[in-house]
Amino acid sequence: MPPLSPSDIKNMKNTQKIVAISLSTAPLAHLADPLVDIILVGDSLAMTLFNLSSTQCIDVPTMTRHGKAVALAASHALVIIDMPFKSYDSPQIALENAQHFLENTKAHAVKVEGGTEMTETIKILVSHDIPVCAHIGLLPQSIPPGQKFTPTGHSQKQKNQLLNDAIAVENAGAFAVVLEAIVEPLAKEISQTLSIPTIGIGASPQCDGQVIVAEDILGFSTKDTPRFVKQYAQIHAHISHAFSQYAKEVRNLSFPEPKHCYYEPKKKETS
Ligand code: KIV
Repeated sequence: MPPLSPSDIKNMKNTQKIVAISLSTAPLAHLADPLVDIILVGDSLAMTLFNLSSTQCIDVPTMTRHGKAVALAASHALVIIDMPFKSYDSPQIALENAQHFLENTKAHAVKVEGGTEMTETIKILVSHDIPVCAHIGLLPQSIPPGQKFTPTGHSQKQKNQLLNDAIAVENAGAFAVVLEAIVEPLAKEISQTLSIPTIGIGASPQCDGQVIVAEDILGFSTKDTPRFVKQYAQIHAHISHAFSQYAKEVRNLSFPEPKHCYYEPKKKETS
């Protein structure tokens, strides 16, 4: 079976909910791939993997390496790769970097942050057969290191702007749009207005799908998570337990055991 395509994802609108997950390593991609529709190689790896304070710190080589690892591990889900900060400052720069990503990672599509200001970029990518997922609402790449993430869509001005952004990215040719941290009634209205699917994160159950960062729902860290995260596991407890057992057994000489070691083959007796 070929992997899901952008058209398959578009056709899921109004028929079934789209399940997307943001992750950036091959082991997690192997586990998620048969269970989800979209794997996003998100630049949130800045925080989840590299302990940085902003997605502004991530570059094209880093996204290429992770995109390649994830795309190689996936065979069912549509793989989307985030265009990192500064890699789509003009339509021409965007085209060069998006072509680089699709050729070098085997991901199927790219994601760019921004609304009306992104229409020329989306159009040029789509005209070169590069499927684009848009991303509006809270735009992490616009938030400098150390600044807090806050939801948007409260004022009438923000509402009008976000609705215009959503319509603009659809008209430019995006096959889907992520709605991040947008107040619920507006996320619902956008989902009902557009004919492409909306993928919510901190938005609304009425979005056509949901996306979340894998490390957040797995509970990799003991740090506070945003309101929109539900933790389905506390994997950090299992990892700490395993590390502490390993350290204890090395120190008390119970690991490694003979079965973990290699020995010389027994010599045959010669008469
Ligand atoms: O980088 C990321 O993981 C994302 C999702 C949170 C939408 O952009």
